[in-house]
Amino acid sequence: MQQEATMKSIEEMKQFLEKTLSAKRFAHSLGVMDYMRRAAKPYGLDPEKAALAGLLHDKNKEESDADLVLTLKLFNPKFIADLDKEYHINRYLHGPAAACEIPFEFFIDDREILLAIHQHNGGFAKMPLLSQCLHIVDVLVPTKPYAGRYKLEKLFLAGQLNEANLLLSDWVFEVFQEENTPIHPAMKNLFEHQKSKVRYLPSDFFSRQ
Ligand SMILES: [Fe+2]
Ligand SMILES: [Fe+2]
Repeated sequence: MQQEATMKSIEEMKQFLEKTLSAKRFAHSLGVMDYMRRAAKPYGLDPEKAALAGLLHDKNKEESDADLVLTLKLFNPKFIADLDKEYHINRYLHGPAAACEIPFEFFIDDREILLAIHQHNGGFAKMPLLSQCLHIVDVLVPTKPYAGRYKLEKLFLAGQLNEANLLLSDWVFEVFQEENTPIHPAMKNLFEHQKSKVRYLPSDFFSRQ
């Protein structure tokens, strides 16, 4: 990792998040950090990178849509200009905004970490392993209970990443529909791609049990 000498310490990052996030979001961030560190070994990830991506992924989660748009206009104008206005909402913007600010706030410039944070809500056609793991671990450390968590965790811990990704995509559609969040076309394309990678789909595959 470059610029390691000037990178803020984990303790400093935790203190920053504790001050800027709600207690619930801060606890979730610590939980995702710990889970990512544990997942590093079975998935062959660098444990430090996994932990940092987990700790910082929701740094901007509690910001308004307008603030996130402003951050992205400053730091990543192409991204926000290319994204249809319909998707200028927290769900789609908090990861990309965090990935823009982190190099300046914590002096982290590791591309893999920043990409995982940028992509952690899913819907990207190409997601490296760290991004995929963060996308799944994020929902394995929920801020509120939901049906099916154990089923998803079982697939993830068994190394069945394609199956876990596919199952999660289906559930994300359900949640987005319930909360009237627009589904980006890239997510639908990705779902079809994920489906093609899973050879055997039992009839109850998408059930929450
Ligand atoms: Fe998030
Ligand atoms: Fe999260």
